[in-house]
Amino acid sequence: MASVTSLSDSVQQHLASALTATRPQAAGVDPLLRRSDRADYQANGILALAKKAKANPRELATEVVSHIVTGDLIKDVEVSGPGFLNITIGDRAITGNLAARYADDTGRLGVPHAEHPGTTVIDYAQPNVAKEMHVGHLRSAVIGDSVVQLLEFTGETVVRRHHIGDWGTQFGMLIQYLDEHPHELDHKGADDGAVSGEEAMSNLDRLYKAARRHFDSDEEFKTRARRRVVDLQAGDPKTLAAWQKFVDESKIYFFSVFEKLDMEIRDPDIVGESGYNDMLAETCRMLEESGVAVRSEGALCVFFDDVKGPDGKQVPLIVQKSDGGYGYAATDLSAIRDRVFNLKADTLLYVVDARQSLHFKMVFETARRAGWLNDDVTAQQLAFGTVLGKDGKPFKTREGETVRLVDLLDEAIDRASAVVREKAQDLSEREIAERGTQVGIGAVKYADLSTSANRDYKFDLDQMVSLNGDTSVYLQYAYARIQSILRKAGEVRPGAHPELELHEAERSLGLHLDAFAETVAEAAREYAPHKLTAYLYQLASLFTSFYDKCPVIKPAPPRDVAENRLFLSDVTARTLHQGMALLGIRTPERL
Ligand code: ARG
Repeated sequence: MASVTSLSDSVQQHLASALTATRPQAAGVDPLLRRSDRADYQANGILALAKKAKANPRELATEVVSHIVTGDLIKDVEVSGPGFLNITIGDRAITGNLAARYADDTGRLGVPHAEHPGTTVIDYAQPNVAKEMHVGHLRSAVIGDSVVQLLEFTGETVVRRHHIGDWGTQFGMLIQYLDEHPHELDHKGADDGAVSGEEAMSNLDRLYKAARRHFDSDEEFKTRARRRVVDLQAGDPKTLAAWQKFVDESKIYFFSVFEKLDMEIRDPDIVGESGYNDMLAETCRMLEESGVAVRSEGALCVFFDDVKGPDGKQVPLIVQKSDGGYGYAATDLSAIRDRVFNLKADTLLYVVDARQSLHFKMVFETARRAGWLNDDVTAQQLAFGTVLGKDGKPFKTREGETVRLVDLLDEAIDRASAVVREKAQDLSEREIAERGTQVGIGAVKYADLSTSANRDYKFDLDQMVSLNGDTSVYLQYAYARIQSILRKAGEVRPGAHPELELHEAERSLGLHLDAFAETVAEAAREYAPHKLTAYLYQLASLFTSFYDKCPVIKPAPPRDVAENRLFLSDVTARTLHQGMALLGIRTPERL
């Protein structure tokens, strides 16, 4: 099924031709069409054109109006203010447009694909092996997953990369300890060998703490641990096998958390730091030979004019340490080569905490100097802010420790289940538990996605599961309510009647539904899921006022009016469903 041209695009085209008909130099001038409170749309672009053509803007606007053909689409157009155009859309066009969207059997509501999709490698959801996942990992996963959905929806080829921290000196310590205490990772739990995520994490945590205690108190163990790092990097099979145990055990845990988050993470997309080990030496050689990196006090460094420490001296990006070891930067530079030359990406996107912004700035600039990135192949960090507690300080437990992600999710599910139970009329216990999970996880995701990523936000569960206000629960209830209306309508089915005159509330709802396509395109282009949440929240609000003012079932309107209103309700439900899916949030049929 073909995509549907949105009303605003059609109006835009009408205006563009009227502008060119008025003044040839207007070709390509943006009419600056916006939704408006005074009319359906307002166009402000004539002001700029008047300046360019040295004409009186109001007179020019009047001239443009004379070239606009009114009809089904543009019912009325008038000049207002200093030279704006106020445009009113015909009811027939609104209903007709939505009917075309409704008929799209792909579920895309007529939303077109991007004109020139490319290939994006997105780096997100990157926890660290043998470590607990905390709220920072939540943001990367939630924002990243939504951006993946948005980009794929626009037709972009998306390659997911989970750059987990699975390499580095701490593994020498862990492996050596495991070698000396070989049964520490054995599973005590179920006979069938199945291990829960919680169990896996507590094994790792216990082992990590014990290894660290040895490392800090036993000099000889420390020496053996250091030797083990060298073995690991050299690829000694026995050492690698032990390392693999840690990775596998951690993955059991990661997958359990991602499942709780209702998020699909695929094993082949997990390419951690270790995955670039074979490229590190070559990356350094290339950088040194091209002169991008230079030796300084034995280390291989890249310098930047604008990156200086408090003493005014330049602080370099260290690609290789003076002892020959490679760090985080060498890995990221190698990953860039892999993503550009093997995966053939034209966009690299990194969903990473804003506190790593300087690292990425230096890494990207280094890659540009090396010629791996350029104007056609670009890299960008989608930096996110910190999750704060209710007190406005970085989120911590009462004991001052970082909050475990699982604890936080469990609490959200508990709170949400209480809300669902309170409103539940005909739900079974099993259904309450299931909906509670969908509502709780949705609430956490929505709160994260509805503030623009670069800002900090307060983690406030009371607010997140509130039924009133800008929350996912509010949207989920709007969706479930429409499903209930459709059920109650019995044999009256949704049906479009373009010949009917629309109520003001129906017009507002209809025009907003039409804007779904452009909202999704914008949110995808700008990696800005919060633009989609704002759109959906407004959609639910417009639906509420439509439903208040325009009876659908009781008092029963004429049959054709009832059908048309059910149709508007159903388009709203489908748009909510699709929009929420792009945020990774479920829309239960009953709540
Ligand atoms: N594992 C890192 C952390 O927990 C994030 C990795 C970000 N991605 C990257 N390519 N450096 O902070």
